[in-house]
Amino acid sequence: MKKGETVFITGAGRGLGFAIAEKFAKEGYDLVLNYRKPQGKSCANLLRFMKSDLANSVKVTLAQADISEPREIEKMVTNLNKDGVDEINHLVLNAASAPFKHFGDMTRNDWKLLLNSNLIGNVTCVNNIVPLMKKGGTICVISSCGSRRVLNKYPLGVMKAALEQLTSYLEIELYSKNIRVNSVCAGFLNTDVFPFLTELWPDLFQRYKDQPRRWLVEPEEIANIVSFLASEQSSAIRGTTIVADLGNMLEP
Ligand SMILES: NC(=O)c1ccc[n+]([C@@H]2O[C@H](COP(=O)([O-])OP(=O)(O)OC[C@H]3O[C@@H](n4cnc5c(N)ncnc54)[C@H](OP(=O)(O)O)[C@@H]3O)[C@@H](O)[C@H]2O)c1
Repeated sequence: MKKGETVFITGAGRGLGFAIAEKFAKEGYDLVLNYRKPQGKSCANLLRFMKSDLANSVKVTLAQADISEPREIEKMVTNLNKDGVDEINHLVLNAASAPFKHFGDMTRNDWKLLLNSNLIGNVTCVNNIVPLMKKGGTICVISSCGSRRVLNKYPLGVMKAALEQLTSYLEIELYSKNIRVNSVCAGFLNTDVFPFLTELWPDLFQRYKDQPRRWLVEPEEIANIVSFLASEQSSAIRGTTIVADLGNMLEP
């Protein structure tokens, strides 16, 4: 059943973003799927997806932009109108990128990229897309446990902490527009980046492997929560962060 609502997802070409896109398509939402580069794995994956029965059951629009570049975001949003998209109901801020470095090794350029991609880029997406959210709707920000625990060489954690706080500020600021804002703080995800993380933090993952609790979250589990947060069933949840880490942060 078509919902008659459109979801805009950043970084939708692979991993969690793609799982979120599939979940919303299965629920009958139309999609606008952002990807960073005109060529590359994400673009190829989305072009393949466009040919699937699932994508053909709803309206899917591809929207290329590097969200660390404000002009690209503005151009992407202007082009939406040409593609016949004049209204967005739900915005999912999923894209993220960062160097894996100690703070002492971060150059000014690393900091600029970190802030532009993860904080300024997301705020620019909000500022450009909110005018298209004419009947209100929801914004969901994807965070990670680095927002509240210290992980080696993970400056992205500082951005995620800022994004969780931004969630509360946006909730207050956008309340009068009837836009509900929340985040999901996800535990370690079974996506492309996972093999790299196991090499980066071998002791942490060895500790997880040695304990009985499940510790690797499937992207579909987070996609379910994101879709719940876009639905009326979550109407009382506003300006907060839901932690979905399989309970792993409870362990010392
Ligand atoms: N992996 C985990 O264990 C984990 C845990 C908790 C939370 N998260 C969060 O979940 C989200 C998705 O992570 P993931 O594991 O699926 O993979 P990821 O490797 O972090 O993928 C990020 C996605 O964002 C896109 N992206 C990055 N920078 C962008 C930019 N400047 N403009 C537009 N798109 C950009 C990437 O596009 P390209 O294909 O072009 O690179 C990719 O599609 C992120 O917010 C991440 O921080 C991940």
